[in-house]
Amino acid sequence: MCVAGGIMRRIRPAARLRGELTVPGDKSISHRALMLASIADGTTRILNIAPGRDVRSTANCLARLGVSIHQTGSGVAVHGRGLCGFEQPADCLDAGNSGTTVRLLSGILAAHPFESVITGDESLRRRPMARVLEPLRRMGASIDADRESRAPLRIRGGRLRPIHHALPVASAQVKSCVLLAGLHADGETSIEEPWVSRNHTELMLPLFGVVVRADGPSSCVSGPARLRATTIDVAGDPSSAAFFLVAACVLPGSELIIRDVCVNPTRTGLLRVLGSMGARLSFEGVRIVGGEPRADIVVRSSRLHGAAVPVDLIPSIIDELPLLAVAATQAEGETVVRGAAELRVKEADRIHAVVRNLGLMGAHATELNDGFVICGSQRLRGVVVDSFGDHRIAMAFAVAGLVAEGETMIAGAGSADVSYPGFYDALDEVIDG
Ligand code: S3P
Repeated sequence: MCVAGGIMRRIRPAARLRGELTVPGDKSISHRALMLASIADGTTRILNIAPGRDVRSTANCLARLGVSIHQTGSGVAVHGRGLCGFEQPADCLDAGNSGTTVRLLSGILAAHPFESVITGDESLRRRPMARVLEPLRRMGASIDADRESRAPLRIRGGRLRPIHHALPVASAQVKSCVLLAGLHADGETSIEEPWVSRNHTELMLPLFGVVVRADGPSSCVSGPARLRATTIDVAGDPSSAAFFLVAACVLPGSELIIRDVCVNPTRTGLLRVLGSMGARLSFEGVRIVGGEPRADIVVRSSRLHGAAVPVDLIPSIIDELPLLAVAATQAEGETVVRGAAELRVKEADRIHAVVRNLGLMGAHATELNDGFVICGSQRLRGVVVDSFGDHRIAMAFAVAGLVAEGETMIAGAGSADVSYPGFYDALDEVIDG
């Protein structure tokens, strides 16, 4: 069981997980729902919006741009200001820790005829922004950043022209930034990725009445578009469900049902890889709500074997790779992740963080430029590990702590609030013995 301890969290070994739970609404879908609602005509209702700090950062930025957002009985109501309807903010916009906020919102701000500045915390100010600056500048926006193209970004927007943008690396944030800018441009804006990344923007735009042409890794919108308010019901976040899925797989005697989880194939790389490693997973009541598939996922403890993650699956498992590394220590044989250099520029350098923490816990893990190799059948020992200020590292190592011998202390455990406030309590709830 886990015990509260300020910013340090103690995780004790657990026997097994049992029962059922729901996880908070999906973070990526929630960001998009808020942003599309704010540029729509009319009032959009968002049900089951993600409660974490990142989505609050998006809501706070939108409020500073004049968007009225308030809590209603069953969700959140967003009074849209229509395309190009934002007010010039009086102050700098603070995206906090959220890359999705800064990158997607830049696409909308690029079309507004005023100057705005958007920045974030220390981690966000280290992350690369050239990937959105380059296409937005080509569309006609004027944007200043520091010499290394990092935030704060000073954006002077205006009339945009449509472009075709080929991404060198699959990224839903970059794709969505350009598509959102494309809604404001005169004509057709198209995107092409090397592999398909999460497609929530493409699936949500039609709910607001906008036609999107999407074919695998290519998508395209025509502007200027007009968005009509709608209702968005957000499914459970598969990236949050992932921690419970892996914990249940690796703790003998576990059986868990996680209800109402988004199972969009652009997000379920972990499920596919765990399946190929021998995980006992099944899906019940698969249904489509608002264009997004969701299901109840049943997971039972499993004898896992190592795997080489196929490179084309990397975008659909990118946020779960630290957790996969933890699972891999309990599998038989080696697990190899390559083609995932993007992990180095997430909220922390996740390749370094994973290999360092697993090493401290006594596991054999090797750092590669673009991934890692994890040896299986490892006994982990409970020690102090660092979250590196990264929510997914904190939660992945809470799972490691459940299978370790002795107590694991997670320094900076509070970073879990970025995507999953209440995570440690939810974990306690399903620990059985
Ligand atoms: C996200 C896209 C992914 C992911 C991030 C959320 C999104 O990033 O890692 O946590 O909501 O669009 P990239 O677009 O950089 O791949």
